[in-house]
Amino acid sequence: MVGNGSSPLTVGDGETEDGSGSRKPTTRPIQSEKDGGYVTFEGCNLFEIIDTTRSMRRLKSDPVPDALIERIIAAGTRAPSGQNTQPWAFLVVRDATAKRWLQKRYFAVMQRAMGERRPSPDDHSPSARNMRAALHLAEHLHEAPVLLLVCGARDWPFAVAAENRRGLAPPSYGSTFPAVQNILLACRALGLGATLTTMHQMFETELCERFEIPDTHGVVALIPIGYPLGRFGPVRRKPPREVTHLDRWGSPWPV
Ligand SMILES: Cc1cc2nc3c(=O)[nH]c(=O)nc-3n(C[C@H](O)[C@H](O)[C@H](O)COP(=O)(O)O)c2cc1C
Repeated sequence: MVGNGSSPLTVGDGETEDGSGSRKPTTRPIQSEKDGGYVTFEGCNLFEIIDTTRSMRRLKSDPVPDALIERIIAAGTRAPSGQNTQPWAFLVVRDATAKRWLQKRYFAVMQRAMGERRPSPDDHSPSARNMRAALHLAEHLHEAPVLLLVCGARDWPFAVAAENRRGLAPPSYGSTFPAVQNILLACRALGLGATLTTMHQMFETELCERFEIPDTHGVVALIPIGYPLGRFGPVRRKPPREVTHLDRWGSPWPV
């Protein structure tokens, strides 16, 4: 439940809080009765959220209140999509057996992908730390309270000519990833850790069968969500100037 007892989906969901008919931004505190004491706030500074939304792969197993999951999914559904087709669908996996099923397969493909490239414990480079964290996630995936499967309706990209369209179309990645990013930002805003993962693609057919996902949809991302063990911090990225050109490629943006 949210502060005043209304469903979180009514907040910022096009409905009004005061019955006036006008849409209001969601900036008030949100607290769950079931959250074991967690208090989270919405309406934090957008740029602070953007600058500190990084992959949080070490998660507590403490449950995440339904109200927050609903709010996160609502944020996903606010994303843009081609022709406003809104091709997304969400599968919230909380069942312990189902999470273990996913973890076993995710871990197996991660191990295969990593092969001999496991970093030595004394390697503290960013890529080694990243790999260790990714492996930790694979080992502990089932301990995350929520594994969110973000699905996308299958649709051939324009660039694939009709005569080349064979088998199932891929899920509409371009129109689903904005929703994925909104979800990551919403998690961060609510103090929840999350990571965009795609290793499930290596066992997607089996995955769709296991969760009865119809042929109309594919799984675009698997996002483990939970309260983080570590702290949020700034993302490490190239400086914008390094990747920005003015008027023609190669002409630097002036200082
Ligand atoms: C398309 C895409 C696929 C990704 N797949 C995985 C994945 O399968 N497993 C994983 O641990 N992280 C995955 N990531 C997360 C990236 O590794 C991560 O965002 C990147 O290294 C930057 O680190 P940061 O998010 O901590 O800033 C993926 C990110 C993107 C955008």
